[in-house]
Amino acid sequence: MKKTIVDFSLNGKKVIIRCDLNVPMENGVITDETRIVESLETIKFASSAGARIIIMSHLGRVKTEEDKKTNSLLPVAKRLSELLNKEVKFIPSTRGMELEIAINALESGNILMMENTRFEDLDGEKESKCDEELSKYWASLGEIFINDAFGTAHRKHASNVGIASILPNGIGFLIKKELDTLGSAINNPKRPLVIILGGKKVADKLAVIEHAVKIADHVLIGGGMSYTFFKALGYNIGASVVDDASLDFCKRIYEENKDKIILPIDIVVGTSFTNETNSRLVDIKNIGNYDMGLDIGVGTINIFKKILLDAKTVIWNGPVGVFELEKFSTGTRKVCEILASINANVIIGGGDSAAAVTKFGFKNKYSHISTGGGASLEMLEGKELPGIAIISEK
Ligand code: 3PG
Repeated sequence: MKKTIVDFSLNGKKVIIRCDLNVPMENGVITDETRIVESLETIKFASSAGARIIIMSHLGRVKTEEDKKTNSLLPVAKRLSELLNKEVKFIPSTRGMELEIAINALESGNILMMENTRFEDLDGEKESKCDEELSKYWASLGEIFINDAFGTAHRKHASNVGIASILPNGIGFLIKKELDTLGSAINNPKRPLVIILGGKKVADKLAVIEHAVKIADHVLIGGGMSYTFFKALGYNIGASVVDDASLDFCKRIYEENKDKIILPIDIVVGTSFTNETNSRLVDIKNIGNYDMGLDIGVGTINIFKKILLDAKTVIWNGPVGVFELEKFSTGTRKVCEILASINANVIIGGGDSAAAVTKFGFKNKYSHISTGGGASLEMLEGKELPGIAIISEK
């Protein structure tokens, strides 16, 4: 068991909390604040326990001076302060006198946020390459390190792995929740375990599919990736999206796991990627040359439903249709509905599936929605995440 924030005496201590506050923004306005909201519990706990809090996070990817303008954490610090109803002092740098003086002036319970850790990437990618000097410098600013950045846990960066390799460390409540829900669903699930995989690109999920067939009782496949399976099995897929480089993989994995992998039996097709296109329901054996598969059909939904009704654990990663277009959103919406109605531990992987459940109003209907996109995928691949592996055991 990993050490957690509750295992430390925080009063009067300078505590670095690494959060993942990498929230989507448009013109400086936060468009989804989930990651900030999910980070509150740890920050509030540390503040009430009398810690002198230094918050670190990255935002976006910073490759040029220009990127700095659109990736400042200032709007995030402001929003965090509003949500906490407490001052969050923002320091617009990642090292130097101003930062050090402000940290030393922190009183018990006070909170400070440093500028985007990836501003250090402009000078030799120091953050992203887990530079030793930078890790030592940041570690010198605090006395205890708490990693609560699940979304970044698959990265080996200075602000997570680097600092943790120097300071006494533990995880915060957000990572603890991810391990207790997503982690135990993968490693120790109540069975049957059903994994639903969708999304456009098979190539991104080869390792996930490979691991899913090992751990799950059923793997339901929908969305864009199913057409690569159909082509690999010799069906005409018309103008549907396909990933030719993954055909051999799909053929082999399907042949080896026919009893576990459930592919759609019917799909809704259109002839363009728009709401205006004429749509039809077709059996997967009857896809026309100009047809583009854009959603799962009603026969498939019924098969998925039958399997899901018996499930005790479900992990869902990737929409089963083009849910952004109303006309092709039924399959994904139905999956949301079914998952909300069953008596099972339901975990939604981050990224697009999280966006879909939010869009359709199901955000609070499941056991857990992961805050990690890439991190939850790597966990589903059975990989150890460096940001968590480095944390001390109790
Ligand atoms: C994410 O949004 O997946 C995390 O914040 C990690 O971001 P990255 O892919 O830029 O490392």
